[in-house]
Amino acid sequence: MKKTLVLTVNGERHELQVSADATLLRVLRDELGLYGTKRGCDTSACGCCTVHVDGNSVYACAVYALSVDGSAVTTIEGLGNGDRLDPLQDAFIRAGAVQCGYCTCGMIMSARELLAGTPKPDEEQIRHAIAGNLCRCTGYTKIVDAIKMAAGS
Ligand code: FES
Ligand code: FES
Repeated sequence: MKKTLVLTVNGERHELQVSADATLLRVLRDELGLYGTKRGCDTSACGCCTVHVDGNSVYACAVYALSVDGSAVTTIEGLGNGDRLDPLQDAFIRAGAVQCGYCTCGMIMSARELLAGTPKPDEEQIRHAIAGNLCRCTGYTKIVDAIKMAAGS
């Protein structure tokens, strides 16, 4: 049986009928077509599905959509402004922090939460903030460099 879910996603209100076992990840990708949020492990292990719910990072694969009914969700598509990239997106490109790109949206969402609370993080704070986001390609150094660049530190 489906129930009504109301979510504000990237500033836009949505009212959907979803089943009790639908995860937030499934709703974002399969119902709303927001494919920037990636499905990797689907078991809370990789972080590539990271989004913000009411400003806090969560693994969208680990959250039942109905449990966040009424919340404001931000995905990677909600950063930036039109053609203008978020400073983190720009820094990831300039620092060469994107290889296959599969981890990138989750990395940026975790980093965005970090910079919201800690605008000038040191390297330890950066590495702690992205500890739940796995990257199989980069070795992390350029990702850390990109976050420093975006922070101007
Ligand atoms: S897909 Fe959610 S943590 Fe890997
Ligand atoms: S760039 Fe490929 S997993 Fe991070």
